[in-house]
Amino acid sequence: MADGSFSITTPIFYVNDVPHIGHAYTEVAADMMARWHRQRGDDTWLLTGTDEHGQKILRTASANDVSPQEWADRLVRDAWKPLLETVDIANDDFIRTTDERHVAGVTAFLQKLYDDGYIYAGEFEGYYCVGCEEYKQPSDLVAGTGPYEGQQVCAIHSIPVEVLSERNYFFRMSDFEQRLLDLYESRPDFIQPESVRNEIVQFVKQGLRDLSISRSSFDWGIQIPWDPKHVLYVWFDALLNYITALGYGTADDEAFRRLWPSVHIVGKDIARFHAVIWPAMLMAAGIDVPERVFGHGWLLVGGEKMSKSKLTGIAPSEITDTFGSDAFRYYFLRAITFGQDGNFSWEDISARYQAELANGFGNLASRVIAMIGRYFNGVVPERVALEPADSAIDALAVSVTERADAAVRAFAPHDAIATIWELVDALNGYITDQEPWALAKQEGQRDRLATVLTTALRGLGTVNVLLSPVMPKATAKLWAAIGDGGGVHEQRIDQAPSWSGAAQVVPLDGGLFPRIEQVEAAEQQVHA
Ligand code: MSP
Repeated sequence: MADGSFSITTPIFYVNDVPHIGHAYTEVAADMMARWHRQRGDDTWLLTGTDEHGQKILRTASANDVSPQEWADRLVRDAWKPLLETVDIANDDFIRTTDERHVAGVTAFLQKLYDDGYIYAGEFEGYYCVGCEEYKQPSDLVAGTGPYEGQQVCAIHSIPVEVLSERNYFFRMSDFEQRLLDLYESRPDFIQPESVRNEIVQFVKQGLRDLSISRSSFDWGIQIPWDPKHVLYVWFDALLNYITALGYGTADDEAFRRLWPSVHIVGKDIARFHAVIWPAMLMAAGIDVPERVFGHGWLLVGGEKMSKSKLTGIAPSEITDTFGSDAFRYYFLRAITFGQDGNFSWEDISARYQAELANGFGNLASRVIAMIGRYFNGVVPERVALEPADSAIDALAVSVTERADAAVRAFAPHDAIATIWELVDALNGYITDQEPWALAKQEGQRDRLATVLTTALRGLGTVNVLLSPVMPKATAKLWAAIGDGGGVHEQRIDQAPSWSGAAQVVPLDGGLFPRIEQVEAAEQQVHA
């Protein structure tokens, strides 16, 4: 990835089930960073998609009496693409592992590895968890309980593993052990955060085995080109999406040459696939390893990892129907330190919605626009003589922009938002201190009133540009009232502090963040 370009990916999601807020969280984090980089003027690319092969999907489809392709088509159409609307994702591409372009790129990649001697035929005997779609070592298993008493089960899924004994193809992953360790050492931020990096370094230091990469007991997958009785192991297939989407292995690989290597945002549970298997595959093919692998934390509900199987799964629309997509995005990006686990609760999102969005940002916007309307008929006045309090706001806008930009580039969206909130809070404090409503009543204070309101408006404009990647809808609405043309998402981050406002502001059509009681009442009416 060249300087000035920013290519970022989410994992591709299994289509065996519908999305929950854990999946939406990954999407939102990657999308916020992509939007921010677009506003920095970087050549930006956000890729997401779906992982459709493998035994897990095959079994779900069979249980529902449809073919796996029909099942995948249905879930992509009815659940996974709509998720992008629900949480407002501006992705540049959506790859499905059943896309022809993907199959073509995977086939070319496999043939190359085979021709170069990195794949060989062998006998596999061992355990496999279909829930994880992963081969397991005896040390990964625990004693089952309840219906599985007396059996060995997967520690993550609590279901029995399957015993496999198959002739299949292996990837010479063990050849790459030292090169991977050298990579982690020479690029200390290749894997982030530190906790995930340490775990992976320890894992590789224990020694890598060759990886079984084909299966012959079912046929829902990409055929091994030189032996079509075998299909490719689903993770080997899935990881390749990151380059097949860019045209790798096809005649049109301009995007691959321009945008690879990408940054991968993944849940920490799958960081190992991305930071061990994936770079080894790429090294074997002579392709650059990813720019970075960031393993974010889990969303917890009631202190436990949220999961559908444990009935703690929450559909993203349950939250967006009440709070809207902006508040969803804001809440998860702000309340959870990116890289750590975070607990979701309805009380917390309601409290932050009211205090930070409605009373903090929303109220600031309404007050500034209303006062310029009331005292200056909506015509934005010139600033006259700046006092220290005004210059302090201008200076804070510059420093907040620089620090927020550094935080996003360091994959710390929570820090970026907290930094932007320094300006929101400072502007609310400034208005309280300067009392423009009192200035409006005093003789001879017209210039001062003008200076205060225009300083506040400029600060509000800075906040609005910086929050556009976080809350695209509310900031677009505010831009319609205070902006000076174009879309807020087209405004450059580095120019946010020097934004000086339109000649005129128009009243906000309703508040930016409606009171929740009203939202609930409206909801009830719709459902009545
Ligand atoms: N298909 C694989 C990824 C292949 S990428 C080449 C997969 N899919 S998944 O649908 O099961 O999960 C996708 C992502 O959602 C993972 O990164 C996972 O960590 C994330 N999340 C699933 N549950 C989550 C939470 N409870 N909290 C946060 N993220 C969660 O794995």
